[in-house]
Amino acid sequence: MTAFPAATETGDMMKTAIYPGSFDPCTNGHLDIITRSAKIFDTLIVAVLTNNNKAPAFSVEERIDFLQRVTAGMENVRIAAFSGLLADFARTRGADVIIKGLRAVSDFEYEFQMALTNSKLNPGAETLFMTTSTDNMYLSSSVVREIAMYGGALDGMVPEEIQTKIYDKLRR
Ligand code: COA
Repeated sequence: MTAFPAATETGDMMKTAIYPGSFDPCTNGHLDIITRSAKIFDTLIVAVLTNNNKAPAFSVEERIDFLQRVTAGMENVRIAAFSGLLADFARTRGADVIIKGLRAVSDFEYEFQMALTNSKLNPGAETLFMTTSTDNMYLSSSVVREIAMYGGALDGMVPEEIQTKIYDKLRR
């Protein structure tokens, strides 16, 4: 049987991926993509967009804090803020890959356009789509915000360790 040498023995490059988003707030759907991507790449940078047109409910500091809490213990995951173009951020961080989660066919058209645009702006970064697990198909940050606003149960949608903080901010 042929033994495959380790990447370090062959001199292969370490691979860095970026998983960008607003994470307003992060959900179990995001965490699922983060966990699975972190197993594939040497370093995963979760990149939080700061100049968002959507006027986020949570500040950048809060969104970063949530992500840091839910990824504590994942040694190759870094949380970073970015503004401007994702393609430029990927270049400055030396990232080879941009990870996007796909939930439904409705996500595809927009994501396809973004992937083509990003590859035009930075041909060095390849967009990879990862399908969301079926449990999280229906999830989105805005659904989570709406449920929290009216005090509904967030179990199974958002990691337990950040639920109270989400209610504290949003519950009416
Ligand atoms: N599980 C659960 N929810 C998910 C999900 C998953 N796996 N993947 C996406 N979502 C949700 C998000 O929470 C978000 O929900 P919301 O609309 O209720 O807030 C929604 O799906 C859209 O997510 P996404 O497509 O990741 O958009 P985003 O706004 O979070 O992030 C950026 C978009 C940051 C990736 C993009 O705007 C960007 O790259 N901006 C920088 C500017 C740039 O370079 N533009 C491109 C060139 S024109």
